[in-house]
Order: sequence, then structure tokens, then C-alpha cells
Amino acid sequence: MNERTEAPSLSSTAQAYWEQRYRDHPRPWTGRPNAILARWVRSLTPGTTLDLGCSEGNSAVWLARQGWRVTGVVISATALERAARHAADTGVSACTSFEQHDLERSFPAGQFDLVYALYLQSPVAFPRDAVLRRAAGAVRPGGLLLVIEHASAPSWVRESKVEYPSAQEALGAIGLDLGGWDLVFLGTPERPVTEAASPDGQGGTIKDNIIVLRRRGR
Ligand SMILES: C[S@@+](CC[C@H](N)C(=O)[O-])C[C@H]1O[C@@H](n2cnc3c(N)ncnc32)[C@H](O)[C@@H]1O
Repeated sequence: MNERTEAPSLSSTAQAYWEQRYRDHPRPWTGRPNAILARWVRSLTPGTTLDLGCSEGNSAVWLARQGWRVTGVVISATALERAARHAADTGVSACTSFEQHDLERSFPAGQFDLVYALYLQSPVAFPRDAVLRRAAGAVRPGGLLLVIEHASAPSWVRESKVEYPSAQEALGAIGLDLGGWDLVFLGTPERPVTEAASPDGQGGTIKDNIIVLRRRGR
């Protein structure tokens, strides 16, 4: 008989929310990275990278396969276990490390060549701008900070109740002293959404804010 071990006690609302979400909705493993991230890293020499809110590790494991040493951070123990298992199954355990943090409370140590946050957004209270400011501090001089966030509802939503910031507003909200950074890219491109992901099977489009900054110095 299989015994179910008791779930660990969850220390915050955010942790409880995300843990339940990952337990209830395991996602099929794709091993495919976020397409925008993949485009940006193509021109970079592999080094060290930090994935904030790495979910089940699709992008992190893909980057490890490209030669990066990856630290992935996620709040849910279930997502973390899945990410570590995918790394092991793919043969990249040696160059990945997955850490459980509530980024509101703790943050991984070290500095990285690339720090990225892909849709690090949450329906429960989350001090996202402060976390991104801290993330910027984890970029080594000469390294890149890449932030991708939702900037619109999908095109089939007629009246969205959410107000999305412009890319400029999103950058301003992080509150960085831009004197120490070169702005590599700031924009809100539109991308297609597949037929399968749209309710009417017709597909559509959606917008993302993309912020790419290079920290000055060497
Ligand atoms: C919208 S999902 C995006 C996941 C992934 N980056 C992607 O692009 O598919 C947000 C991610 O941030 C994580 N997250 C949310 N709040 C967090 C917190 N306070 N500390 C650490 N991770 C958090 C969630 O567990 C989830 O993996």
C-alpha cells in the first residue's frame, strides 16, 4: 500500500497558493524554452544564470543543455522536485541547482552573467518590483537582466479588467539607478497565440513587455 506523506506546512499565502496550483495542475514536460528568452541568449556566451520563478524548469534545463550553469528558484516544493527530476532525466543535474525561496523573504546568493524573470507575476500579493530590484543586484558587472511580463490580455478578450503597464512604466517601477546600466531593449512586441491555446480554436495574439539591461562595468 502506498502511504501518502503529509504535505509540508506552508509558511506563506504565496507558498500555499503556488504549491496547490502545481499539485493540481502538473504540466506536460516540453523541454522547450521560452521563445523570447531563447532568442536573446543565442548571441550570448554561456556562463552562469539565475531563473527567477523557474516553474518546472523548461527554460532552465534547456539553458543547461546549451552549456549554462543554471540556478532555478521557485516557491513550490512540487515544482522544484519536478524541475530537478527533469534536469536529472536530461542529464544536466551537474550544471543545474534548484532552490526553494519565497522571493519576498529570501534570495539566492551570488552574482550571475544572466538573471531573468519570465512572467514572474502572481495572483497573490507579491512585491515584484522590489524582487526585480534585488534581482538587478545579482547581475555581475557586464551581465544582463532580462524581464518579460504580460502587457495585454489575449486578443480574443474584448474587455480586460486588468490594466497593464507600458514597458517604460514597468522599467520605472523597478526603480533602478539607470546610470549603472545600458538599456539594450525596451519594448512591447506582439506574438501569436496558437489555436490550441485560444477558446474558439482560432488563435490570436498577445503582447509582452520586454526589458533587457546590461550592467555597466567588468
Ligand atoms: C506565472 S508563473 C511563470 C513561470 C515561468 N517563469 C514561465 O515563464 O513559465 C510564476 C512563477 O513564479 C513563481 N513565484 C510566484 N511567487 C513567487 C515567490 N514569492 N517566490 C518565488 N517564486 C514565486 C511561481 O511558483 C511560478 O513558478
